Amino acid sequence: MSTPQHKIGSGFGARSTADDVLHGIDLSGQLAIVTGGYSGLGLATTRALTRAGAHVVVPARRVGPASQAVEGIDGAEVDELDLSDLGSVRAFAERFLATGRSAEIVINSAGIMACPETRVGPGWEAQFATNHLGHYALVNLLWPAIARGRGRVVSVSSAGHRRTGIRWDDVHFEHDYDKWVAYGQSKTANVLFAVHLDRLARDQGVRAFALHPGGILTPLQRHLAKEEMVAAGWIDEEGNPVEPSFKTPEQGAATQVWAATSPQLAGMGGVYCEDCDIAEVTSAAARSGVRDHAVDPEQAARLWALSAELTGIDAFTAP
Ligand SMILES: NC(=O)c1ccc[n+]([C@@H]2O[C@H](COP(=O)([O-])OP(=O)(O)OC[C@H]3O[C@@H](n4cnc5c(N)ncnc54)[C@H](OP(=O)(O)O)[C@@H]3O)[C@@H](O)[C@H]2O)c1
Repeated sequence: MSTPQHKIGSGFGARSTADDVLHGIDLSGQLAIVTGGYSGLGLATTRALTRAGAHVVVPARRVGPASQAVEGIDGAEVDELDLSDLGSVRAFAERFLATGRSAEIVINSAGIMACPETRVGPGWEAQFATNHLGHYALVNLLWPAIARGRGRVVSVSSAGHRRTGIRWDDVHFEHDYDKWVAYGQSKTANVLFAVHLDRLARDQGVRAFALHPGGILTPLQRHLAKEEMVAAGWIDEEGNPVEPSFKTPEQGAATQVWAATSPQLAGMGGVYCEDCDIAEVTSAAARSGVRDHAVDPEQAARLWALSAELTGIDAFTAP
């Protein structure tokens, strides 16, 4: 059954941490795959999930720095994956499936934001390709392990989804590249992916969620000049955070960890969350919530079909 896009009153909020939402939850015996699990929110997620007893596989495009980042975290392992390269996604999935393990939790946290116009693979726009198509391919290729896990798949989207729906007539920005619109499109795609995956997977016991983690200063802002962040009111001239709503990485990781593990969401899926609760659908003036264009089931089905066509991968359609 589809889940209403309405708050459930979880009792958690913007200042809750990943450890807070995991309090009393034992993840022993569960395996989680956390893309980007070696930086920013992903690293905080890896730490929290392993502390709760999960084994965490961290796919990394830079294996050396990733191994250093998770050094000393009991229960974390690193393997190679570049989401912007379908060959690399296939190779990672084949290695994982060959181990015969199940995946109870998949958190798609890796991402890039507002980069200069960049083309990857067959000329794909890099933010759409990395943030959406790479994760689309990964989940579909890992489907046998995810189906066995009968757990949850979580897409880390962003409030940036509010900027735009999918640009159906120019998804790869052949014209008029705008780094923020391209980021927004990729983050809308993250939500639509969860909406349609949930529809396809729920009968097999797998549920999908999307979320906005909050605003957190992490290496994600690497493509922004200091002046741009000062002008946005995020940092002062010395680089100190000045935006009062900013979260710590542990607070930023809380919503994805809550979506991946909370018994409060049992029997639910296909919804967008923020501040450790399901979000409301809001209109253009609102500073929180999810926009209609990101949770529309028809748009979600259309994006799934386009992604299947572009990648040649779809676990839910017989070849
Ligand atoms: N921070 C925020 O304020 C904020 C707000 C809204 C949404 N989000 C979302 O939260 C997620 C995590 O962001 P973050 O703040 O934790 O950023 P981050 O610290 O930069 O982490 C992103 C991770 O993604 C990895 N990655 C990038 N391109 C990749 C590729 N081609 N293949 C595999 N991995 C790749 C990065 O690896 P490398 O280090 O090797 O590049 C890094 O580990 C993103 O999806 C972002 O859109 C963040």
